[in-house]
Amino acid sequence: MKSYIETYLRIKPLLINSNNNTKNNSTNISTLSSYIHNNNNINDESFSETNGNSINSNSIEYDINKNIFSIKIPENLRTGYVNNLKKTYDFHFNGIFDVSSTQEEIFEIIGKKVIKNSIEGYNSTVFCYGQTGSGKTYTMCGSKNWRERGIIPRLLINLFKKIRELKNIKFDVYISYMEIYNENAYDLLDNNNNNNNIDNWKKITVYEDNNNNIMLKNLGLIKVENEQQALDLLITGNYIRHIGSTTMNNASSRSHAIFNIIIESNDNNLIRVSKLNLVDLAGSERIKSTNNNTSIERKYINLSLSFLEQVIIALNSKDRTHIPYRNSLMTTILKDSLGGNCKTILIATISSNINYIEESISSIRFSVRCSKVTNNVSINECMDLNVLVNKLIGENERLKKLLNEKGINDNNDKNYLVLNPNPLNDYEKDECKILISEYLNNNKKEPIKAKNVNQLYYIIDFLIEYIDKKETKYNSKMKEIIEEKKKLKIIEEKENEKFKKINEIIKKNGLKKYFQEFFDDENNNNN
Ligand SMILES: Nc1ncnc2c1ncn2[C@@H]1O[C@H](COP(=O)(O)OP(=O)(O)OP(=O)(O)O)[C@@H](O)[C@H]1O
Ligand SMILES: [Mg+2]
Repeated sequence: MKSYIETYLRIKPLLINSNNNTKNNSTNISTLSSYIHNNNNINDESFSETNGNSINSNSIEYDINKNIFSIKIPENLRTGYVNNLKKTYDFHFNGIFDVSSTQEEIFEIIGKKVIKNSIEGYNSTVFCYGQTGSGKTYTMCGSKNWRERGIIPRLLINLFKKIRELKNIKFDVYISYMEIYNENAYDLLDNNNNNNNIDNWKKITVYEDNNNNIMLKNLGLIKVENEQQALDLLITGNYIRHIGSTTMNNASSRSHAIFNIIIESNDNNLIRVSKLNLVDLAGSERIKSTNNNTSIERKYINLSLSFLEQVIIALNSKDRTHIPYRNSLMTTILKDSLGGNCKTILIATISSNINYIEESISSIRFSVRCSKVTNNVSINECMDLNVLVNKLIGENERLKKLLNEKGINDNNDKNYLVLNPNPLNDYEKDECKILISEYLNNNKKEPIKAKNVNQLYYIIDFLIEYIDKKETKYNSKMKEIIEEKKKLKIIEEKENEKFKKINEIIKKNGLKKYFQEFFDDENNNNN
């Protein structure tokens, strides 16, 4: 089934402190870590929202109408855009979340759809794309405040709620959490990394199996029984994840993070396995707009984001012959999400700050390109292997019985019985005829070695026809002989009658009388 990448736009409100980056290089604590402690503390956010579409000297002027985002390019910025005479640009999305939208609304529309797809057995991916500070981590994970928790924690809670509702289906849920930092991938849940320098962390290695499936070595998969265990893993990973500071975000993600949920269900021996990738990308930065703090990190982030863009451009090209997934770890690991077997959702996050209009348009353009990419999705389901094996054993017994009824058994040489669902072609038929002729001309009568069941059936039918023909020929010959025999019998009886007569005459009158009567009879017959 073809499925387009769904695209959504989220516009971040202007926050009071959004431009005042209190630079804090030691920020290395996940905002989610405080979920547990801050459950009831909802007043510690210091931001104000612009009022919907209101025009503010500092905010982008835009209009939203039926999922079309119309952005007005200010007079002084218009030169340099594709058509500098145009004042507004329209962009289509599957959904737009305005500055006033809440985390709950986003989960209602995106999160619930993803849970439904995953339970039905589809692979799913949700990823956020946008410049640094535009709200990717906020959308995926949330902020300090529990009430503002993002898609991932809400998804975990609702997933287990759904699992408890579906009492007749057995579910197993597994979690892995990795980050890609400076083009190396690490397991964020590997305890061995805890007190170690990153140089000693075990790197995740990526390779493709014979079926071109991406396999990851050194990434643990942890089984979780409930939402609490799953949330603990998310929080643990976020503690460890690389966070730094940029001009726009003092708790900026310096790595791409991929939180994986594997859902395995068994519904009456029908097994479904779906993989859910929840991706929080690191944000792109314009070099001029950043501090000169960690240029290596920035270089890797920008490079991998531009490789992501190249993959999307290649997927949109007509022939799709070569997709450069292998250029970066992120695109290799997300290969299935981009053009593969996965229902993918992209949330483009933009700032409503006029100063970042260029970055915002660039993110919107990326998402428009993504919206044209088609994935080929199918439900990942199979029968329970044990049930399947038992079914095959039963089928095997039935076929053996059938062969025995035809007078053939395969005990002599099992290697020659290979199921072949195709009808025989002329060449294969000729092959059978050679086998039959060898069999008929061979005095020892060694077994006929057919290559497959179809050949065997052909040989049986051929032999039955052969025997039938032989029988008819034999029968007509027999008839002729019997007829001949009957004639001979009549002649024999006649001759016997004659001898009987001769004997009687000879006994009675002697030989002379016999010859006299014999000639008389002969004369009478001739007249
Ligand atoms: N829609 C929003 N409403 C309120 N606050 C928001 C919103 N989006 C983001 N924020 C706040 O803005 C700040 C930056 O957001 P966030 O860390 O999510 O950006 P990011 O896109 O992940 O950036 P980076 O690429 O640097 O990691 C955070 O303090 C976050 O709480
Ligand atoms: Mg982030």
